[in-house]
This record gives sequence, C-alpha cells and structure tokens, in this order.
Amino acid sequence: MERYLLLLDKDHDYLDWAAKKLEADGIRVLKCDDAEKALQVIEKVNVEIAIVDIRIPTSDGGTGLAVLKQIKAAAKNWSEMLFIVTASFPTAAQLVDATQLGAYDILKKESLTFELKKIVEDAWQVIDARRLVEDSLPNRNEIIKDNDVIGSSKEFQDLFKLVGKVAQTDAPVLVTGESGTGKELVANSVHIYSGRSHEEMIALNCGAIPDNLLESELFGHEKGAFTGAGFKRIGRFEQCDKGTLFLDEIGDMPLSVQVKLLRVLQEGTYSRVGGNEVLSTDVRIVAATNKNLAIEVAEGRFREDLYYRLNVVELHIPPLRERVDDIPQLAEFFLKKITKKQGVAGSLGGNMRLSTEAIEKLCAQPWPGNIRELENTIARACALAGSDVLLPDDIILAESTRRPIVSTISSTDVQRIMSQAPDGEDVVSWITNRLVNECVSAAKGDHLMAAKKLNISVVELEGLLSAR
Ligand SMILES: Nc1ncnc2c1ncn2[C@@H]1O[C@H](COP(=O)(O)OP(=O)(O)OP(=O)(O)O)[C@@H](O)[C@H]1O
Ligand SMILES: [Mg+2]
Repeated sequence: MERYLLLLDKDHDYLDWAAKKLEADGIRVLKCDDAEKALQVIEKVNVEIAIVDIRIPTSDGGTGLAVLKQIKAAAKNWSEMLFIVTASFPTAAQLVDATQLGAYDILKKESLTFELKKIVEDAWQVIDARRLVEDSLPNRNEIIKDNDVIGSSKEFQDLFKLVGKVAQTDAPVLVTGESGTGKELVANSVHIYSGRSHEEMIALNCGAIPDNLLESELFGHEKGAFTGAGFKRIGRFEQCDKGTLFLDEIGDMPLSVQVKLLRVLQEGTYSRVGGNEVLSTDVRIVAATNKNLAIEVAEGRFREDLYYRLNVVELHIPPLRERVDDIPQLAEFFLKKITKKQGVAGSLGGNMRLSTEAIEKLCAQPWPGNIRELENTIARACALAGSDVLLPDDIILAESTRRPIVSTISSTDVQRIMSQAPDGEDVVSWITNRLVNECVSAAKGDHLMAAKKLNISVVELEGLLSAR
C-alpha cells in the first residue's frame, strides 16, 4: 500500500530537498506551497502524515495555526492523520496551541536537516501501532466505574473466590500485601459482598492517628476523660454497629490499644475511655497491613493472641510483579478511567490507546509501588504523550521502578552465579546480594564506582547494603 505524506511550505528548495529524501524510502510525497492546494489534496488523497509550516496563511487571511484547523476540518481521516508543525522559532504560545490542536510534534525547521527521516519513521510507527491497537480492542466502549476491581490472573481469581466465601461470614479478616496492591479495595469488597452491605463500612487508619487519640477514636470517651474531653464522644465501634470496621495499617496500632481490641474480638464488649459502662457491639473487623505481622509478633511489637484472632482468614494480595497477567487489563482500565476524568487535550480526545510495545514494557517492570504506581505511570503517560497512542517512550518510570539488579547484568553472569546458589534460598535476593558483594569488593569499597557497575544509584546501593 502506498503511503502519502503532505508537505506544506512556501520554500521550494526545502520542498524539493525533503521530498527527495523521503521518496528514497518509498513514500509518496505531495508538495504544496499554499493552503488552498493542500486542502484540495487532502480531500482526495488519504494523507497519513502532514508536515506543515506554521507561517502558511489560509486563503481567508488566517495565520499561524489557522491552516491546521482548516486541514482538520477538511480531512476525512483527521483522527488517523498525524500532524507535524514546523517553525523557525516556535514560540511558547505556538507550542501550546499546536499541542492542543493535536499536533504530533512541533519542530524547529533547522532540526529537520538531520532528523527528518527519523521523525517520519517514528510517526509511521505511531500510525501503525494505533491501527494494531484499534483492531485488537473490540470492546473499548464498555462502561467503567471507578471502583471496579480488575484482575483475571489465576492469583487474583483465587483471591476473589476467597473474598466471596469470607464475605458470607462474620469472621475477622486480615488483608495483607505490599503497599499499593489494593488492600483497601479488597476490604471494601468484603463489605460490599457481605450481609452487612446495607450498613456502613468505616475505615480508620491506625497509623495516621496519634497513639493517645486512637483509643478514644475507636471506643469513644466520656466527658472529662482527659484534658480537652469537654463532651462525651461516640467511638467508631459504636458508630458502625452492625456494619464493618476497616482497621487499616493495623501493624501500627500501639500495644495499649491492642489489648482493648482483643477484648472486643473475644467478648464483643468494650468501655469508653474514662467510663465503666460495659457496652456491646456487633461489628465485623477487617484489618489490613503491609507489615509482616508474624515478624512484628516475634519482635514484641504485636500481641500474639490478637494476631491469631485477627488472622482467622488471611486475604493475601500478591504483588503486581507476581501477577503480570493482570497488567494489560489494569493498564487499559486506568487509561479509560483517566481519560474519562481528565478529557485529554485537543484531538487526543478520550481515545488514548496503548501500543503493544508499551504494554510489553509495562509487563516487564517490577512495580515496587504495585497498582498505585501503575496507575500513576499511566496518568503521567497520558499527560505527556505526543499522540493518542502510547508508545514505550511515553511510559516514563519513576526512579524506584528500575529493573531488579539481576536483570541489568548479562545472562552468562547470572548463570555463573546462579549455579552456586544454595537450594531453598530466594534466588533473586541471593544473586543480588552476591553481585553487590562482588562489585563493592572489586571497587575496593568505592560505592560510587560499585553503583555504576551495578547500574543503580549510590542511594539504592546503600539501601541494599543496610537492608541486610
Ligand atoms: N484490582 C484492582 N483493580 C482496579 N484498581 C485497583 C485494583 N487494586 C488496586 N487498585 C487501585 O490502586 C490504588 C491502590 O489501592 P489501595 O489503596 O487499595 O492499596 P493499598 O494496598 O491499600 O495501599 P497502601 O498499602 O499504600 O495503603 C487505588 O486507587 C485502587 O483503586
Ligand atoms: Mg491502604
């Protein structure tokens, strides 16, 4: 299939030069030196890329980007066409306007001398990727709700089967998982699918409330219970009777409050701070933590008896890197959610899509911040993307989302070291340790040099050294 590119510029030398360069690659170049001719061409031919000089006036005397607007109106395939605007010295206002009109790129004329071929090649990749995505995504218009829960990996499906089962009981549930894996979402699902769903679920972040206030927050207090307690106050347990109480970051609960929580779990009773009256409550507890509570118990920071009471059912959410199958679907979901909310500028519209290569890149990341980090990455890509198809370069990872060290070294090195790994060890952390040791001693203790060799920052290296 022949591919058409339109060049619109007053400078005939430039038109000839650029056409010759591109035609060598088999591209059909249509040269125009005024807006009127360009509009006629565009109505007849399926132009895929248009490179337009910003100084071209329209027939009715419009200047600047007016020509872009006219072309936009005339082109049948506007949404598929890519625009590149050229200018000698694009002003800030022109850059913003062109971007908002959906231009794929705004280039200084002089940089074309060296980059024309590369820019056009990239643009064609975008067009192809866009088509591919379009063909492979039949149901883009399904309605999404912001609190939808997404996951089709085996790990996630198993988790939700368990959610379904425990929701029907009143047993306390402990939701565990790294930061950003969706603990709150899972806690919420337990409530929604339970017989208590018509009652309230109250969430309390135990880590965010000062120790001395947490007890009164949970159980309430009597008037005069402590300095400043001018009135009697109802606590969360009383407030959410018959409902669900979500105790987030339970690992941060001070031991003094843990005793009282244990009593509620064992006997269903409690007293307000400063009061003697024994009150009873019917509250379902869902707790969550990203700490390892067994370790907290072993180190004396968490009561063992409370741990067993809370941990009647554990819902463990695996980190995202262990359920890579969920990444494409989650990424698509966030893309829709974000474009729906923000509406993306100009012709990028609400129709942003992910190229196959971008999805592959997403799947290859370790995501230490899990789903929250994936969501932020997609939001960043949407905000900064040059076209409505997200390519790998649009996926900008936060500093922390580096590949694990083992993947930055050659596979022969990995194999050499792995053959020495003892059975039963976590191979990745064993190799990481081993590599860090090798590099630090080869650099004679020079952390900067060792970090360079390992392809990580000094801060990261020192973090690894102090973590063991
Ligand atoms: N399966 C999922 N489908 C869709 N969105 C999800 C899913 N899991 C998590 N999210 C979204 O990711 C974000 C982080 O989830 P959430 O706040 O539940 O994580 P968390 O485990 O409580 O994190 P933290 O430990 O930092 O408190 C939220 O915006 C949530 O809506
Ligand atoms: Mg949370």
